[in-house]
Amino acid sequence: MATLITNPDQLKEVLRHAEPMPKPEKVLMVTPDYFSVDYIINPHMTGNVGTVDKAKARWEWEVVRDKFRNFGLTVHELPGEPGLPDMVFSANQSLPILDADGHHHVLMSNMHAEQRKEEVPYFEQWYRQNRYEINYLDAENVLDFEGMGDAIWHFKKRLLWGGYGYRSSKNVYLHIAETFDVPVVALELIHPAFYHLDTCFCVLNTETVLIYPPAFTHAGLELIRAAFPVVIEAPEAEALKLLACNAACPDGRNVVIQKGCNEVNKMLKKNGFAFHEVDTTEFLKSGGSVFCMKLMVW
Ligand code: ARG
Repeated sequence: MATLITNPDQLKEVLRHAEPMPKPEKVLMVTPDYFSVDYIINPHMTGNVGTVDKAKARWEWEVVRDKFRNFGLTVHELPGEPGLPDMVFSANQSLPILDADGHHHVLMSNMHAEQRKEEVPYFEQWYRQNRYEINYLDAENVLDFEGMGDAIWHFKKRLLWGGYGYRSSKNVYLHIAETFDVPVVALELIHPAFYHLDTCFCVLNTETVLIYPPAFTHAGLELIRAAFPVVIEAPEAEALKLLACNAACPDGRNVVIQKGCNEVNKMLKKNGFAFHEVDTTEFLKSGGSVFCMKLMVW
């Protein structure tokens, strides 16, 4: 039975034997009709209540959606719901899981943020219609979990990276490892502006990851470096203000990233990646960018 991986040598060994996993080809996005900053639940939102330009947000969202379409991915659009301004961040409400036999499962989130709890059932409905087996966290032993905001699949391997400390509980990863028989590497997050793993850790391909090192502990960085021969480090200005690490690389080569991340883009190019700049300024006001505006599903 798979378990939590806590040391670098164990991780290297597990990676050597990790089962292959196809990359997801579908994208789930929520339309930004009701997106706004109405409350403050992360440091990026401070000072931004009521400042979202809805028309601009809509335009930015459509450009991101069209990028994914241009890569040949199928984009499913779920309508946003009134009163749920953060629902547009579709990475957070669930974690889709493909088991070793190729069956589709999903673990529904248990949002840490009270304001976001009602978003989850809308996603559950989509999974139901798409014949996923739906799993929930144990109601007795309630653990926080914000889906793919914190739980990120390795590229094309059955290995999960799990961030904890702000929005998800460490113990949720032991539960995931045991329930779905998948190895999980848990990484503690220690910088409040990098409150979800996807704000400071972006898997680009099997060998390469883009990170913001000060968001992690020393032990966490050792695990990351043990798994990825190439670690691209985002500078503070681009990681913090532009959420450079909240990029998306659906095919192991093309990286969709907030515009203006010039240092990161130079490093991406040097390492053989193509970068595609998009403007997600309205969503940055809420503490999100490309990665969390979509969910990759099989
Ligand atoms: N305002 C949202 C929140 O704080 C932003 C979520 C962004 N999602 C992400 N996966 N980083 O919950």
